Amino acid sequence: MRSHYCGQATADLLDQEVKLAGWVHRRRDHGGVIFIDLRDREGLVQVVIAPEQQLAFANAESVRSEFVVQVVGKVRHRPAGTTNPNLHNGDIEIAASELTILNRSEPLPFPIDDTYHEIGEETRLHYRYLDIRRPEMLSRLKTRAKIAHYLRHYLDTHGFIDVETPVLTRATPEGARDYLVPSRTRPGHFFALPQSPQQFKQLLMMAGMDRYYQIVRCFRDEDLRADRQPEFTQLDIETSFLNEHEIQAIMEEMIRGLFKEIVDVELPNPFPRMPYAEAMRRFGSDKPDLRIPLELVDIADLMRGVDFKVFAEAANDPNSRVAALRVPGGAALSRKEIDDYTQYVSIFGARGLAYIKINAEGKEGLQSPILKFLPETVVNQVLERTQAKVGDIIFFGADKATTVNEALGALRLKVGQDRGLVEAGWRILWVVDFPMFEKGEGRIFACHHPFTSPKAETVEEFLQHDPLQVLARAYDMVLNGSEIGGGSVRINSSDMQKAVFRLLNISDEEAEEKFGHLLTAMKLGCPPHGGIAFGLDRLVMLMTGASSIRDVIAFPKTQTASCPLMDAPSTVEPEQLIELGIRVVKTKE
Ligand code: AMO
Ligand code: AMP
Repeated sequence: MRSHYCGQATADLLDQEVKLAGWVHRRRDHGGVIFIDLRDREGLVQVVIAPEQQLAFANAESVRSEFVVQVVGKVRHRPAGTTNPNLHNGDIEIAASELTILNRSEPLPFPIDDTYHEIGEETRLHYRYLDIRRPEMLSRLKTRAKIAHYLRHYLDTHGFIDVETPVLTRATPEGARDYLVPSRTRPGHFFALPQSPQQFKQLLMMAGMDRYYQIVRCFRDEDLRADRQPEFTQLDIETSFLNEHEIQAIMEEMIRGLFKEIVDVELPNPFPRMPYAEAMRRFGSDKPDLRIPLELVDIADLMRGVDFKVFAEAANDPNSRVAALRVPGGAALSRKEIDDYTQYVSIFGARGLAYIKINAEGKEGLQSPILKFLPETVVNQVLERTQAKVGDIIFFGADKATTVNEALGALRLKVGQDRGLVEAGWRILWVVDFPMFEKGEGRIFACHHPFTSPKAETVEEFLQHDPLQVLARAYDMVLNGSEIGGGSVRINSSDMQKAVFRLLNISDEEAEEKFGHLLTAMKLGCPPHGGIAFGLDRLVMLMTGASSIRDVIAFPKTQTASCPLMDAPSTVEPEQLIELGIRVVKTKE
């Protein structure tokens, strides 16, 4: 049906006859001559149909946007003055001798062009096959395939073996809610879809596989954001007999090669490393965006004795933090803008957003709702420590450390973006030395997952310390403020694994019930092992400049975790429920 793709019809084929097939992007009538921009996966080409070609012309007269047509014609130069410099083949056109309509199209619900911003995402996803016709979407999916290919090739040639692991399995803790699948053969029992293949890949190391990888779908029922989907794809990796530095070195080399190959970018060698504690202190985040040159500065020591209760109380509480964030040029912010930022930080639990504007030199040049509470010496020390200059604003946060970190960490990103402070380029780093555990809702959680090895040689050494002070052999790869991968060296002794479970309030009985397979395998010859998983969707999103991972997934879910195209999830036939022994309880809604 075709000799070339439309986008491949270039001046190289001058005077040759080509056969093309594609979609009518646009049709224009120009005083007896009809022009069609014909589009396919590889691009556009202009087709000209002269009235002398009677049959072709008659067909061309009836075509409309998005008809699928086949064209036979000769490649020729466009007449002088009519070339289109925006098209790579804008210097040529196809003089059609035949035009056949292969399929008609009703008027589309939205045009295949750049106006898609105006269309609701629900509609775009409902007609996703039309949305993907846009060159931008096609090109992102092509890049995604190239990225996956590069990664596979790298791993294949570095001794990694691609192994598939089950999708119907049982819950494995990665911190999100599970998607459950009822079992027909064991009524009342459920499979869980994997949040990650974590336990299987560890079992593969115990099986002697040595190096494993898989591009694998993971399922997490959690609150969705621009960089989160309920089903997403990991590049999942596990290795034996390597320590964290060796694992990181291999992964760095892979990611450096990927960036060189796909976007021609040289990433640093080696990647910088930053301890978790430093990331929190300087950026209020464990995935700092280093493109934004703003930093949090601790000032609790200056605030212990001031009259401003909010600051003084936080300054004297070891679990709290008082921090300042200087924004160069921020004195220009209006009252309304500051109010909006105050509103913004309240989302993260901040109870206010004190500030000092430095409008001019000297005491009189300062403008702030909290000056009256602060001695001049303290104000001067704050100005000095934050290196504030005329024209700047300093924002303050005083609260529980987690609240200050979240609020000022998010404010740093928002102000940085709003004020055009985000530097161009790629800033990648490893965040290392994560704590093993974090506290929340009255109990402790694993920061990474409960299979992560603590930085302790023996169970005795591990139990000597306050659990919240123990560091993990875990690492995250962070790119431009996005966590693109995370991993760790794992526990490989059942005693250590049980000790960690106990701290997490998982009794030996419960551990045996839920993780007996892993604990047993650890007693039957378990090599030292560790690995990492990359968020493939996030990686592709960043590399293609997309603003959401939905834009790099062919058929993503909406913000409410549904698929408007297939109308999933859906109700099922009563017979199916009976077979599964399930009764649906209707709620009022
Ligand atoms: P983790 O939970 O950090 O680690 O996940 C690894 C990477 O997967 C990506 N990711 C997501 N991407 C899109 N939508 C989501 N809902 C989502 N959740 C996570 C992130 C993240 O860095 N088993 C461990 C890995 C290991 O220890 O080897 C794990 O799953 O980019
Ligand atoms: P108030 O005395 O409550 O009017 O607060 C004075 C200033 O301090 C206002 O600008 C508040 O937004 C700010 N503020 C109040 N609580 C906090 C807090 N916990 N952290 C930072 N700023 C605060």
